[in-house]
Amino acid sequence: MENKKYKLALIGATGLVGRTAIKVLEEKKLPIAEYAFLASSRSAGSLINFMGKDYTVCELKEDSFDEGFDFAIFSAGGETSKKFSPIAASKGCIVVDNSSAFRMDKNVPLVVPEVNPEEIENNQGIIANPNCSTIQAVVPLKPLDDKYKIKRIIYSTYQAVSGAGKSGVDDLENGINGLPNKKFPHPIFNNCLPHIDAFLDNGYTKEEEKMINETRKILNKPDLRITATAVRVPVVNSHSESINIEFENDFDLKELIDTLKNAPGIIVQDDAKNNIYPIATNANGHDYVYVGRIRRDYSVKYGVNLWVVADNIRKGAASNAVQIIEKIIKGSC
Ligand code: A2P
Repeated sequence: MENKKYKLALIGATGLVGRTAIKVLEEKKLPIAEYAFLASSRSAGSLINFMGKDYTVCELKEDSFDEGFDFAIFSAGGETSKKFSPIAASKGCIVVDNSSAFRMDKNVPLVVPEVNPEEIENNQGIIANPNCSTIQAVVPLKPLDDKYKIKRIIYSTYQAVSGAGKSGVDDLENGINGLPNKKFPHPIFNNCLPHIDAFLDNGYTKEEEKMINETRKILNKPDLRITATAVRVPVVNSHSESINIEFENDFDLKELIDTLKNAPGIIVQDDAKNNIYPIATNANGHDYVYVGRIRRDYSVKYGVNLWVVADNIRKGAASNAVQIIEKIIKGSC
């Protein structure tokens, strides 16, 4: 497939994820000959500079995919995806969808290329990109599950405001300048809000439920015991997560650390004596998942704690989507 020149449409090109996808596409230099940048009527007509050339942003419409695209990346929210992804797929385009609209659909693969690339070939036109906090979690969980069999997971997240889009970043910046919050229900500056996405009847938030359900789907362990608390923190970019894991089998800590070091997409930063552990500002702008503070959990028989940090807009969204397309183009799945 590599000699073919492809056509790609980026939907939500003016948003935070869209703009980062543009950067990632510039870096990757995939054999894509034609690009189209789409958004709402609000930004139609504005210009996007891509690889030194100006492109006019077009309004997303029902006939936008008539000209025949090979790939579309959707980052324009769930409602836009629900309406337009099936239209794009029906015209022969492979959609990589960043929203939560199709993630739990049985007919839609939910893919992290380092974890379950084999799922890509089961697509029927739409491939879902998992939630940002799930993506960075499953990258280290997969090699550990393969080796020691995961029995239970406790997630506690510390999520950056960029995960809520431009308006999330604006809320933090405005808060620093003494202006009131608009996006979040409380000021995010100087606060940690245990509230990401809407609350459900069972007391969890949708974000927490996404982490639980998506992890089960990606690891192909529908009954895995998982609980989660997702917290928004006053950090501009890159999510941090505490992941407590209980295994079926015993492990040697050094061997476990080596397993993570040798796994794809991971950089281990774990040298406590020298204050080396993953931090958000070091993860910004990179596609790796950084893992540190790796230590035994002595409260259970076979448990470990990890501190996991990644750029939520890159690996958690834009880069993961582009990596899926790269895999398809390279025909490695
Ligand atoms: P626009 O800039 O025209 O509003 P973010 O998550 O950073 O807020 O970005 C959301 C992205 O989704 C933007 O590019 C936005 O375009 C786009 N978008 C929102 N609603 C629609 C829609 N109905 N059709 C197409 N694009 C949309």
